[in-house]
Amino acid sequence: MKEDDLPYVLEIERESFPNPWQEATFRGEIYNQPISFSFVIVNRLLNRIAGYLVFWRIENEVQVNNIAVHPDFRRMGVAEAVLKQVLYQLAEEGARFVTLEVRPSNFAARSLYRKLGFEFLGIRKNYYHTPREHAFVMGKPLD
Ligand SMILES: CC(C)(COP(=O)(O)OP(=O)(O)OC[C@H]1O[C@@H](n2cnc3c(N)ncnc32)[C@H](O)[C@@H]1OP(=O)(O)O)[C@@H](O)C(=O)NCCC(=O)NCCS
Repeated sequence: MKEDDLPYVLEIERESFPNPWQEATFRGEIYNQPISFSFVIVNRLLNRIAGYLVFWRIENEVQVNNIAVHPDFRRMGVAEAVLKQVLYQLAEEGARFVTLEVRPSNFAARSLYRKLGFEFLGIRKNYYHTPREHAFVMGKPLD
């Protein structure tokens, strides 16, 4: 992800979340090196940004902080393929565990994570606002 991508990323973000990240948050992630990694997913045929992924890697732990796919490209296996590939690569580089937070009401994302082998680890109370909701913490070992 580069600064030039941000208008397209923000459009997807606003379509995807009730409480979207602001531009400054994405910019902060782009420059929060070497902890944060931000990628755009590009449809080369249409030359369009189809989605993005933001994660932190600190030593052998990975935290997925944001993932979204543009509504035009959902249910095509994009998020599944990207997460599988990125987590495989991170495991190859020595990462051992991945965690993330998800709204309990976000059935699409929870199904995606379950399909990828993530398990429920716990609850962070009142983690989200607008609307207020607890977060489910999910995670899995990387091997
Ligand atoms: C969640 C999200 C990233 C999934 O992206 P996607 O590319 O459409 O997902 P995929 O096509 O790779 O789906 C993989 C699996 O996830 C599950 N899944 C994805 N979307 C689903 C939906 N709407 N309903 C139920 N299950 C769903 C299914 O198990 C699916 O496998 P299947 O197609 O074999 O049934 C996308 O819906 C999105 O951008 N949502 C808004 C942002 C968001 O909620 N991000 C996650 C925050 S924690």
